[in-house]
Amino acid sequence: MFMINVSAPGKLMLFGEHAVVYGKPCIVTAVDHRMSVSINYNEDDIIILNAPEVNIKDLKVNLKDLKKEHPKGAKFVLKAVDNFFDKYNVNKGLKINTKSEFSSLFGFGSSSAVTVSTIKALSILFNIAMTKKEIFDLSYKTVLDIQGSGSGFDVAAATWGGTLYYVKGGKIMEELEIDNIPLIVGYTGIKADTVTLMNSVKKQMEDEPERISKIYNDMEKIADESKKYFYKKDWKMIGKFMNDNQNLLRQIKVSTPELERLIGASIKAGAYGAKLSGAGGGDCMIALGINDNINKIEKSIESMGGKIIQVNSNAEGVRCD
Ligand code: PMV
Repeated sequence: MFMINVSAPGKLMLFGEHAVVYGKPCIVTAVDHRMSVSINYNEDDIIILNAPEVNIKDLKVNLKDLKKEHPKGAKFVLKAVDNFFDKYNVNKGLKINTKSEFSSLFGFGSSSAVTVSTIKALSILFNIAMTKKEIFDLSYKTVLDIQGSGSGFDVAAATWGGTLYYVKGGKIMEELEIDNIPLIVGYTGIKADTVTLMNSVKKQMEDEPERISKIYNDMEKIADESKKYFYKKDWKMIGKFMNDNQNLLRQIKVSTPELERLIGASIKAGAYGAKLSGAGGGDCMIALGINDNINKIEKSIESMGGKIIQVNSNAEGVRCD
């Protein structure tokens, strides 16, 4: 049996982060930085995992120990294997290698992308046909088993790719037929902890349900309204929505001075709009700009200490390479 090679894209949240955890829609785009997984059978009843991007080298796990605790960097792959084995009643030693085109620090969703790639690669190896929805469901379960919470928007982007209008758990999953979005991505250099930020927002929701619900309703309007402007490529309006969304994110206190510096610099340099992308607290911000402006915006982000990451949006979902 040859090695099976599968890859899935990372993601950037365009609208609706945090609100999506509470049942509101979001808009997410897949980016052309991919996470790859290669899988083959192993003769012994052992899984050998190499994941250099998360410092896992020749980790050996006996099949009977699959349900035990594993090192942080190996959790998603091994839980995906465990869930796949349970669902399809199979069990076999494996050799697994992962490779990332992006740093796990960017917040591009490496855990979700590696989970989706692993499930898809296993389905090919064991010759079990899975629809995208089935890949999504098993991958989302895997992420929830480990993280305990999350909307699954990153799992959806890794599975379907493109740009999606998405509601938690895949309740609504609309593929927007649009071209590349002229995004400029600035990395703050700070690693955000999604779960901590989600907990801080949860606390605000418990303390001030009315205020936070209103913010989420406003975010929902942005996600709903923005769809038609994506189709029209009306970047001016999309930029305005980004600024509005960022204002709401400020109100739930997930923006930081570092993010604000990069956002402010891009607006000053002529971006149509800019916002944080994802949980906040660090990771990346996105700005929207076209033609002559792009260079100027990138330079101004860099002058404020940000690192530009070149991405194309609307990347292809999980695929066999
Ligand atoms: O920090 P990220 O890029 O994983 O994004 C988190 C987005 C949230 O809406 C806060 C959580 C979620 O699972 O949707």
